[in-house]
Formats: sequence, structure tokens, C-alpha cells
Amino acid sequence: PRTILLDCDPGTDDAIALWLALASPELALRMVTVAGGNVGLERTLPNARAVLGLAGSAVPVLAGADRPLIGRFRSETAVHGVDGLGGVVLPEGPPAAPGLASDAIRAELRAAAPGSVTLLGLGPATNFALALATEPFLADRVAEIVLMTGAVGEGNWTEAAEFNAAMDPEALMVLLRCGRPVTLATLDLTAQALVTPERVATLRAAPGGRCLAATAGILAALPPSRRFGHRGAPLHDPCAVAWLLAPDLFIHRPVAAEVVRDGADRGRTRIDRWGRNPLPRNACLLERLDADRFFALLAERIGRLP
Ligand code: BDR
Ligand code: CA
Repeated sequence: PRTILLDCDPGTDDAIALWLALASPELALRMVTVAGGNVGLERTLPNARAVLGLAGSAVPVLAGADRPLIGRFRSETAVHGVDGLGGVVLPEGPPAAPGLASDAIRAELRAAAPGSVTLLGLGPATNFALALATEPFLADRVAEIVLMTGAVGEGNWTEAAEFNAAMDPEALMVLLRCGRPVTLATLDLTAQALVTPERVATLRAAPGGRCLAATAGILAALPPSRRFGHRGAPLHDPCAVAWLLAPDLFIHRPVAAEVVRDGADRGRTRIDRWGRNPLPRNACLLERLDADRFFALLAERIGRLP
């Protein structure tokens, strides 16, 4: 299995992504680090603990940054509810492990063999960036970085920027420029993972335990997006996990990716799909998703959990 450090900000779709990762033997999850994002750290941390607790997991959960490297923290309660899980109440999880996320990430990388660790980022990039910026040589230990972030087209936080990229563009820049390959699940991809009432019904009917029931509950509570004619809502973060489990569900291409840090476009990812600029192709853009198989994978895997 691949060694995974997972960073998140749960968050409805983060919760489902965590269960997908925990249910999958291809991934050896070493720790879950948490940032403020969808809601404040005072909610994302207990949410992460509760998500792992429901799955009966003993993977350590650590608190990380409660704000971006630069600028103010802003949350996204309109999508995730004030509690961050769309009103789905989970029993309290085990306590957080002591220490700070970025310190723990660095310690893990220091102890790892070159090119052996996958960084999986589902929120603002702050925690991973703090770890790599303080000891840049640790990037050599990273096999690859997989992120749900950015947009080729329109953003969802501003016209230009997707939420995770908008929250901490400087941190995202650290990851994009660290010299390790970055795979991007952008909004254009996750828009293909549309949660429709039919898909929720199929998931509800699938065999599974309390984690699958909670997944169905969270999905049913996602507000349908105006952008998709109210047909459903995009399921972002689990797409990045699915890439590590079933790459054949995706069509992808190498690109040069940058993030705008100034002006009204702050947080916009500049993705050169056609090799027009001379920048190195530092990223793999996930372009197309087989959504039916993605939702089937989700149900089958999360159905394995308690
Ligand atoms: C991203 O922002 C959050 O709302 C989601 O959890 C996802 O990581 C989508 O823009
Ligand atoms: Ca997230």
C-alpha cells in the first residue's frame, strides 16, 4: 500500500473522502491533519475525530493551522452548514493526538525513504506548505502530491478562484513549486461527480453499516447547486482519493500549473493545458471522470466500514 498523509477540513465531502480512504487497503493512512477551512478549526478538528471514530479507526488526528499563511480566515458555512457536516450529527470521536500538524508531517517525512510518501490534500494547503517550507529538502521524501484544488474554468468562491486555492494561494504555490509531481482534482473534474437524488437512493440501498448510512445522510443534505440546474451538487474531495484507488476512472493530461496571488484573481489556478507557456509541466490534470463507476466505488468501499 501507499503511505499517505491526509490533510483536510471536514467538511461534508472531506468526511466522505476520509471514509473512502479508511476503507481502502491500497492506502496506508499514517495520519490525518486538519486545518480550518470549510468551517473553523474548532469545528473541523472534532469533525475529523468523529469521522475516524465512527469508522473505528485508530489513525492519529492532529490539529493544524487555523488560518492561512497570509491573510484572514473565511469559512464556507453556506455549503457545509455551521457544524460543517450538513447537520448530520456523529458521536464524539477519540481525542486528537498531541502536537501540531506541520511538525508531525515533517517528522513523518524525515523518517521516510526518498520518494515514498503521498501527500493527499483536501483543504487549504497550509499544513503541507508549512512542513515543506520549513525544511524544503523534505520534498525529496514525497512520491507525489494529490490535491482537490483549483479550477480550469470558473471558481466557486470567487468568479476566478476555487475555495481551497482561494483560502491559501501562497501555500498552494509552495506545493506546486516544490519539485514533486502534483495531481489536481479541480472543480471542472468534481463537477462531473454530481450527487443526484438517484445516486443517493442507490447508495442508501447498498449493503453497509453506520459509515455508509452517514454518507447517505450527508449526501442527501448537500444543497443542490444552482450551477447544475439544481440537479445535484458536486462531490469534490472523494475524487482525489478515488484517483489513488482507481486511476482508470479518469482521463488526465500533463500541464503546467500556477496560482495567481495578486489582485481580484487571487487564488485562480492558471493551468496551461496546451503547453503554450515555457513553464515545466509540474502537474497532472484530472480531466474526465467516469461518475457512475466512481459512485459505485464509493458505496462498495464505504460499505466495508462498520
Ligand atoms: C473544496 O472546498 C470545500 O468546500 C470542499 O471540502 C472542497 O475541498 C471545493 O471547492
Ligand atoms: Ca475539503
